Amino acid sequence: MPEPRADQSIQELESRCLERIAAARNAAELETARVEALGRKGGIAQFSKEMGKLAPEERARIGKLLNGARERLETAIEAGLKRFAEETLRARLESEWVDVTLPAPGPRRGHLHPITRIQRELEELFRSLGFAVLDGPEVETEYHNFDALNIPADHPARDMQDTFWLEGGNLLRTHTSPVQVRGMERLGPPLRMIAPGRAFRNESVDASHEHTFYQLEGMMVDREVSVAHLLYFMKTLLAAIFGREVTVRLRPGYFPFVEPGFELDVQCLICGGAGCPVCKQSGWVELLPCGLVNPKVLRMSGIDPEEWNGFAFGLGLTRLAMMRYGIDDIRHLQGGDLRFLEQF
Ligand code: PHE
Repeated sequence: MPEPRADQSIQELESRCLERIAAARNAAELETARVEALGRKGGIAQFSKEMGKLAPEERARIGKLLNGARERLETAIEAGLKRFAEETLRARLESEWVDVTLPAPGPRRGHLHPITRIQRELEELFRSLGFAVLDGPEVETEYHNFDALNIPADHPARDMQDTFWLEGGNLLRTHTSPVQVRGMERLGPPLRMIAPGRAFRNESVDASHEHTFYQLEGMMVDREVSVAHLLYFMKTLLAAIFGREVTVRLRPGYFPFVEPGFELDVQCLICGGAGCPVCKQSGWVELLPCGLVNPKVLRMSGIDPEEWNGFAFGLGLTRLAMMRYGIDDIRHLQGGDLRFLEQF
């Protein structure tokens, strides 16, 4: 191969390789061009192999030419590598650019739980009607939860199945009614109070029962309080929550601390009265047990029933929330599942 045409061939090889190097659009293509030019089986190596066949003086001359070509190719490849490295860095800086002067994104904003929302609406309503909002302990004495409410020892509510008894004779309150007693003891008559909060019962959980649920207790003690007053407040309450007429029915109900006692049921707003798991197929939901305060209860808390009387009610807040928002299973409300809660 060498002799007259060797010089030209080396030049041609060099310019062909330089073209390939210049045409490379990324590091991988550049590497391919490098291997073709300078690799063990590349163009320059091919020429070097032939060198042995040359006369010594020709070998030195061609060797110089090859070295020159190799150096220029290496320089071109290095320049190409540098260019790609700079481009990569620039792209990275561009994509990872942050404006550190921007305000940090705040925490994800939540909202009140549907039960809390209804509770607050009712607190506001009753405050506007002159009621105090009271709080009572969730761990109660047997006296406040039962005896002071005229619930005798053999009443079913005291049954081991319903009540979570604690060591030392205390219990988890089974209703918010003990706060009635605490209100009467602390504030005395005349008294207008509500007490929202949690109550606990040892029940098996299903679509309409939870071991932990919310109630809102209400009590008014004054002179000459009648069932008419009671009904007025109950209707005001329901109209405020539902924002429309709801069909209700009043049944006699037995609670030892009221006399007479009623169950105020609302027509089931989930099924419209047709029957569903929430209303246990009856079309009605027990929502507002109530009545006139039993004189015995007043007397036990130091109030003279000759002078004072009153009404009391125990609204089921959890059920009210289910009715208002059309929730057909109590377990959704208290399961803490954000996918559910985010809908409200
Ligand atoms: N405390 C009763 C219950 O939870 C409800 C109630 C409250 C009834 C006030 C009458 C008056 O079952």
